[in-house]
Amino acid sequence: MNPHLSQLHPYPFEKLRRLFEGLTPPTDKSIISLSLGEPKHPAPDFIQQNIISHLHGLGNYPTTKGLPELRQTIADWLTRRFQLAPDSLDPETQVLPVNGTREALFAFAQSMIDPANRPVVIMPNPFYQIYEGAALLAGAEPYYLNTLAENDYLPDFEAIPETILRRCQLFYICSPGNPTGTIIDQAGYQQLLDMAERYDFVIASDECYSEIYADEQQPPIGLLQAAYALGNTDFKRCVVFHSLSKRSNIPGLRSGFVAGDGELLAQFFRYRTYHGCAMSLPTQHASIAAWQDEKHVAQNRELYRQKYTAVIDILKDVCTITQPPASFYIWLNTQIDDTDFAKKLYQQEHISVLPGSYLSRLAHGVNPGSHHVRMALVAPVADCIEAAQRVKRFLLTL
Ligand SMILES: Cc1ncc(COP(=O)(O)O)c(C=O)c1O
Repeated sequence: MNPHLSQLHPYPFEKLRRLFEGLTPPTDKSIISLSLGEPKHPAPDFIQQNIISHLHGLGNYPTTKGLPELRQTIADWLTRRFQLAPDSLDPETQVLPVNGTREALFAFAQSMIDPANRPVVIMPNPFYQIYEGAALLAGAEPYYLNTLAENDYLPDFEAIPETILRRCQLFYICSPGNPTGTIIDQAGYQQLLDMAERYDFVIASDECYSEIYADEQQPPIGLLQAAYALGNTDFKRCVVFHSLSKRSNIPGLRSGFVAGDGELLAQFFRYRTYHGCAMSLPTQHASIAAWQDEKHVAQNRELYRQKYTAVIDILKDVCTITQPPASFYIWLNTQIDDTDFAKKLYQQEHISVLPGSYLSRLAHGVNPGSHHVRMALVAPVADCIEAAQRVKRFLLTL
């Protein structure tokens, strides 16, 4: 057996299931789930139709590299969205389709980590759980970089000891962040890019919430944009991960891409050829259609905006709550223990939220997820409003 398997932590939703086991929520209130970050807005019809009209593609083995049209569409989208100069991304060498970012974030570590020399993988804390599992299974030691209220829930790159940076091979960042919804700015990226050069590590930038933002005039910047603006025009040491799951409400399609440093992607491509994770042709065609359309994405953002406005309006008098610049989460400070909060809220109001400590680890003397819960505003507007009213009633009992 692979000995690293025993190092894997139970997944947060497994812990949540156990937390709620044996509890009796009120039967007169239906469950409203704010725990799972699964988009619930309808999948756009034109994407569904596109899959149907390309079903004949199931008769062919797809290639690992994907259709040239898909890679070109992605390169064009990145160029538009992140203000790169025309032709600054080569779709042949700098873009690869992936079956959702989850598998790619995992597989990337397996192909990048050299298990000799005590490798370290740095990741934010709290974090998307795949980063940690990927690091452990690749034989690396995770280093948890706390994102705390005192730093506006952003990673403090300066706080990482030099001994760790020297051993770092891979650095996961997540902007906009899950669960915090915060955004790394140009100065933050510059700091990280300088460190990557000095200590020679790879940056894996998870940007799967980049299209779910509050201000239509200020879309979050991304790693490629920051690198390009600093003159790193071949995106050395930089790889970004993007997904259609949240952007286009099609988490079931399993479609995303990685893009950036061509030398790193050549090795990742080699790994994927053997791993056997090519994207099916109907999915590739539907993805082309999805990346080419922005209208449905703007409508999607508008729906989240309505929910944030309504929910914050209900809760603002009973707790400290603000809309994060991006994502569809509220990272709520609970005052009391976060697991107690989640348990009581479920028992009294039949609402499920995710305890923050299920998304984080104790590091450097603190668990940055404790005393927080993550609420995902994915349910329909009316359900989010009903949930906020119940949370308010609950908060008033504390
Ligand atoms: C931060 C983050 N990264 C990546 C993913 C994976 O998304 P997908 O595999 O659907 O692209 C998720 C999904 O919840 C996420 O929250």
